[in-house]
Amino acid sequence: MDRVRIKGAILIVILLLLSGLLAFGVKALAGVFLNSAHGNTTYGVYRTSISSFGYSRGNCTHCHEQHASIDGTEPAPASGTPSNYTLFYDNYINQTDGFCYQCHTDTGSYQSGGLVNRSYSYRAGGWTADTLNDILEAFSFTSPGSSHWLDDIRTFITGKPWGYTQDSNPCTACHNPHAAQGDPPNSPDGTKSPTTRGYPVSRPSQHSRVSNLWGLWGDEPGERMSDYTTGYQAPYRYNSTTAYEPDGSSTQDGSNLTDFVTFCTDCHNTVDVISSTPLGRNLRPIDWVNEKHGSFDADGALSGDPPYGSIMGRTLSCTDCHEPHGSPNQALIRAEVNGATLAGTITTIEATDFTPPFADYNKELGYLCQRCHMDDYDFNTNCQQNRWYYVHHSGSGDPPYSAMRCWNCHDSGSGPPGCNANVTSINCNICHYHGSVDTILGTNRKTF
Ligand code: HEC
Ligand code: HEC
Ligand code: HEC
Ligand code: HEC
Ligand code: HEC
Ligand code: HEC
Ligand code: HEC
Ligand code: HEC
Repeated sequence: MDRVRIKGAILIVILLLLSGLLAFGVKALAGVFLNSAHGNTTYGVYRTSISSFGYSRGNCTHCHEQHASIDGTEPAPASGTPSNYTLFYDNYINQTDGFCYQCHTDTGSYQSGGLVNRSYSYRAGGWTADTLNDILEAFSFTSPGSSHWLDDIRTFITGKPWGYTQDSNPCTACHNPHAAQGDPPNSPDGTKSPTTRGYPVSRPSQHSRVSNLWGLWGDEPGERMSDYTTGYQAPYRYNSTTAYEPDGSSTQDGSNLTDFVTFCTDCHNTVDVISSTPLGRNLRPIDWVNEKHGSFDADGALSGDPPYGSIMGRTLSCTDCHEPHGSPNQALIRAEVNGATLAGTITTIEATDFTPPFADYNKELGYLCQRCHMDDYDFNTNCQQNRWYYVHHSGSGDPPYSAMRCWNCHDSGSGPPGCNANVTSINCNICHYHGSVDTILGTNRKTF
């Protein structure tokens, strides 16, 4: 079928469903929908502008309007022409405008009272000082911050045989609006407990146009980090050394965490080429099986901060380092990682000088590494934070470089060797990024 006819067909199906003619289909969807955050009759969808029509909370009509209108009048927002899928607003317009934001914003929301949604660092990390409080805000970060770019996501999913169309909402790459559950339910401020989890995401590769066939991801056994790997070690929650992500319980093996590796690698893998508008280039492939932070094991010696320590053979979740929506840092790097906030904002990552001696001194990336790896200060309090002499030169078990002829690598400064030696730093990203191996200085060690 061509696009116009598909659109027509979808419109008719929705109209039939809405008018209750397909009782059977509605029943099937209704089960899933009633268990969702949107369909919940206590805290689900409720568009204030149609409250006078008497639709109960959780009714489809709070999102879908027949003939772009209800009873001949058009409640706000009025668009004139019918929107795709009979939604009350255009399904998707751009990064900061579209259907979902009409409710998922804290001010000016059509949902009565507005909707508070938090960052992953807040909800899973327990970093309650984070001021970010709605989804629109999370997708509004631009350089030097970053947000998952919805235009690119839409282009990407339409190029896959997953049943998406040009009219699909890129939020539905990762969420099923008819099934998504709150995490935790009905608790917008994100205080979690092991017993109140909900599951907001669905896997794009499992997408089905028939919503009730497109299940949630993470809600069932087999879909947790502990199923992906036996080597998962949960990071600490904010300001704690006894509570762990994602729910503040003492569970550390990922049996309470959605398998985000399988989820994210539906798109970020070694096969799919992904073009990024904000970065102006294609993304590097992610080969998690062969990375040290992934299933490939660290070797030699590891100088980890608690709870990681020196035990090798661990596999991390993407969300241990990344936000799913947006971040004040580059590359969606979380502002809070493993129990504390980063020491500063990561405004620049990309290295510019790949020839030793390296004249690119930026080491903002170290703010991230510091959260899980021992910097010089952790080795010796006479040394400085976010300096990295020990792990590269001394004392860490398998330092890669001997501190001799400093000028071969450091742009300026010189010995005597030691953590406080007066040498210029070297941009971490010259050697550390997804898939990196140190070929420049020839140790050929995997460095990520
Ligand atoms: C939170 C808002 C919301 C609610 C509530 C909602 N829908 Fe939808 N619905 C959507 C969106 C958004 C789409 C478009 C999905 C996409 O972009 O791929 C959609 C698409 C559809 C489709 C097209 C096929 C599909 O599943 O993608 C049907 C049919 C449908 N909805 C029926 C219903 C019915 C019946 C109800 C109530 C039981 C309902 N919807 C409640 C937001 C909602
Ligand atoms: C690339 C995948 C992806 C895209 C695209 C995406 N999300 Fe999410 N979203 C996630 C993940 C991952 C989580 C965190 C899930 C968890 O904590 O279990 C999440 C969480 C959420 C939550 C729950 C937050 C809370 O307070 O519990 C909401 C609401 C949400 N997303 C809405 C949206 C909206 C609206 C869009 C589009 C503007 C969108 N998402 C686009 C992956 C995505
Ligand atoms: C008519 C208003 C409305 C629209 C439009 C809407 N939502 Fe929601 N959404 C809600 C409400 C209400 C909740 C439940 C909030 C709660 O738990 O207190 C919710 C919850 C969610 C959740 C579960 C996490 C949470 O906050 O509890 C996700 C995920 C989500 N919405 C995604 C979306 C996506 C994606 C779209 C667009 C396709 C969308 N929503 C459009 C009102 C809306
Ligand atoms: C539906 C496909 C899809 C899924 C699922 C997905 N991504 Fe992406 N991601 C993209 C696309 C497309 C881009 C390129 C646009 C951009 O740069 O934001 C991207 C870009 C990124 C970037 C680079 C952003 C920047 O500006 O530097 C990071 C980091 C990232 N994704 C992490 C993740 C993580 C972590 C997950 C899982 C929680 C995930 N992605 C899930 C499609 C996806
Ligand atoms: C969330 C915690 C966390 C963060 C943040 C983190 N790492 Fe790691 N890193 C680990 C763990 C755990 C291992 C051990 C993995 C294993 O056992 O296979 C590791 C292993 C490594 C290794 C391999 C060491 C060896 O002996 O083989 C390198 C190199 C490394 N990390 C570099 C970095 C750099 C550079 C950064 C910052 C850009 C960083 N890491 C950020 C937790 C982290
Ligand atoms: C083969 C290359 C190489 C040589 C030669 C070398 N270094 Fe380094 N050094 C590095 C790398 C790579 C780092 C890690 C990046 C960083 O911390 O700036 C580093 C880090 C350091 C640091 C921590 C700097 C910081 O800001 O984090 C000090 C101090 C240091 N080296 C001193 C020396 C001294 C003194 C010499 C000579 C006696 C020397 N290095 C020779 C590669 C080298
Ligand atoms: C010239 C290449 C190079 C540069 C630049 C560089 N590193 Fe490294 N780094 C390495 C190599 C090689 C290893 C050893 C990997 C291994 O253990 O097999 C390493 C190891 C590490 C480790 C892992 C230590 C552990 O626990 O075993 C961390 C953390 C780290 N570097 C952080 C940084 C930071 C932060 C910067 C920037 C300030 C930086 N590196 C700059 C090459 C480099
Ligand atoms: C230890 C922390 C850490 C973990 C765990 C991690 N990342 Fe990253 N990620 C980074 C850092 C640092 C960067 C920026 C440097 C780079 O581009 O690799 C990055 C960049 C990216 C990018 C942008 C790459 C580009 O071309 O600029 C994508 C996409 C991405 N990550 C996806 C993922 C996915 C998917 C996972 C899980 C399978 C994951 N990351 C796990 C730290 C991490």
